[in-house]
Amino acid sequence: MNLGLRGRNALVLGASQGLGLGVARALLDEGARVAISSRSRDSLEAVRSSLSDEQRDRCFIIPADLGAEDAARLLADTARQELGQVDILVNNSGGPPTGLPSAISMVDVEAQFTKMVTPLMGLTLALVPAMRERGWGRVLTIASSGVIQPIPHLPISNSLRSALVGFMKTLAGEVAHDGVTVNILAPGRIATDRTRSIDAAAAARAGKSEDDIARKSAATIPAGRYGTPEEFGAVATFLAGAPASYVTGSIIRVDGGAIRSI
Ligand SMILES: NC(=O)c1ccc[n+]([C@@H]2O[C@H](COP(=O)([O-])OP(=O)(O)OC[C@H]3O[C@@H](n4cnc5c(N)ncnc54)[C@H](OP(=O)(O)O)[C@@H]3O)[C@@H](O)[C@H]2O)c1
Repeated sequence: MNLGLRGRNALVLGASQGLGLGVARALLDEGARVAISSRSRDSLEAVRSSLSDEQRDRCFIIPADLGAEDAARLLADTARQELGQVDILVNNSGGPPTGLPSAISMVDVEAQFTKMVTPLMGLTLALVPAMRERGWGRVLTIASSGVIQPIPHLPISNSLRSALVGFMKTLAGEVAHDGVTVNILAPGRIATDRTRSIDAAAAARAGKSEDDIARKSAATIPAGRYGTPEEFGAVATFLAGAPASYVTGSIIRVDGGAIRSI
């Protein structure tokens, strides 16, 4: 299948590792020009250095902290400078602290809102008008299986990502007529540093080893294992491509069957 991504321009957030990196690599494999962003310039440089010469020429680096004031405008302006235009936006962020819902701190909630929600909404609003004018665009937002089946000990994630889902779904309805699709990706358990740190926290709570927790967690997933960033990147890249033009306003699960509801 030809995904029609050769020469398309993508901005991928949280792309120095994990899910964002999985998406960025898959887009590069399909011939897209990709701007990768995260806070650490060194990590982004390391990613770029690991690419083939040909891919390196199509990979651009935009260090930015989503928690900084004006992050959305800075990212939008820099991405347009580097890429010329942005056809594909992959919204992503770091994950929030874990804990019991009864014990969450409102300071944390507010701080996370300004890292995980407002910059992604602002960036989307900054880039979508030009996509609509050109009659083609893709907005993908990495959320979590927790927006369908809330995850214990991740109340901030469950809450704030649901806010993003509400916004993106509403936007999808407004812009579908202009060739812009807006979808949510709902990862279940994909093996990344974030998953490892969540397993480490669960291990500390239960007084068990991290391996023990990971084995038990994998056993609850119908696929019997965690997914890989490559498997996640492949789904995102299909949604970013031309053949996915009639998929919008959807939450696409990448979870090995972990979410129990239909
Ligand atoms: N892995 C899973 O199975 C899974 C499941 C459900 C939800 N999620 C969520 O999906 C997102 C990505 O997951 P992941 O597993 O890839 O996480 P990860 O390995 O922790 O990667 C997070 C990425 O976000 C960047 N980042 C963190 N804070 C940032 C900030 N303030 N500004 C800009 N960039 C920032 C990090 O780079 P820098 O440190 O350089 O900034 C890194 O590139 C997270 O929100 C995670 O909670 C993941």
